[in-house]
Amino acid sequence: MGPVDAGDEGLRVFVTSDLGVLGLPELLTPIQRVAAVEVWTGFGPPSPAQLREGVRDADGLLCLLTDRVDGALIEACPRLRVISSMSVGVDHIDVAAARDRGIPVGNTPGVLVETTADLAFALLLAAARRIPEADREVRERRWTAARPWAPDMLLGVDLHGATLGIVGLGPIGSAVARRAGGFGMRVVAWTRSGRTLPGVEATTLDGVFRESDFVSIHAALTPETRGLVGARELAAMRPGGVLVNTARGGIVDEPALASALHDGQLRAAALDVFEREPLPDGSPLLGAPNLVLAPHIGSATIGTRREMARLAVANLVAGLRREPLPHAVA
Ligand code: GLV
Repeated sequence: MGPVDAGDEGLRVFVTSDLGVLGLPELLTPIQRVAAVEVWTGFGPPSPAQLREGVRDADGLLCLLTDRVDGALIEACPRLRVISSMSVGVDHIDVAAARDRGIPVGNTPGVLVETTADLAFALLLAAARRIPEADREVRERRWTAARPWAPDMLLGVDLHGATLGIVGLGPIGSAVARRAGGFGMRVVAWTRSGRTLPGVEATTLDGVFRESDFVSIHAALTPETRGLVGARELAAMRPGGVLVNTARGGIVDEPALASALHDGQLRAAALDVFEREPLPDGSPLLGAPNLVLAPHIGSATIGTRREMARLAVANLVAGLRREPLPHAVA
């Protein structure tokens, strides 16, 4: 654990990650003005026992999506008055249990929208144009004088003229839709809220899979969306479809996706998120063909991660002061 600084109101805060890596020396100062801060500086995230130990006597918790904040943990922390996660997703937190205790939960929407939409598009292009394969082709010296440029080398598919289906038309889904317009794609979308957007055709969830050449997932993981994309949805996609998921792994049935790739039902897929992270050895995805993988880097730019950290700190400080959080989960 890192050093504990003196706070002036007897409040204590546990921060589960050394955010110093983001190069913002003053980041924790607003917290240190009101509380003693303990920063977890161990290797990797704290284990459940270490998290419990760290937060047991804390008034505030600043956590990451790798920290499971379940009902039992919340129950074990009698002083806790705010939970602030440096993430937009809060499926790692038992928000209902926090709400029952009157503990606000802060998250970091907004600041990561465009960055995450960029990654969704990067994955879409990487899958459509086989960029990881192409990189390996050059690097592994298979592109040689004996096998030079050829008319059928690494053929992909076009984005322009194709239909992109979006599942979840919140801020990130909408930002992806805007990008798709610029690429000359037709865009259809399904969203639980019924929200519409100019240039985006509203359809049913089934319609998204039936009508689209590419499907990109942008829903939150909730009990309703867990397993939302299974064998039935993948089979409904146009032959040669491409699936991209930058939302949460639990939304897609991974064995069904691996089978659809093996069978050639899908042309390709690209995933930034997984049911279990880090992706475990033995995952059927590791042997699936035409699959682009990334280790949950949707919001990973220096500017965005800094904004997320600042917002997480602002949420935490507001909660400690019992003021409304700049961004609280509803
Ligand atoms: C990333 O997945 C986040 O929820 O911020």
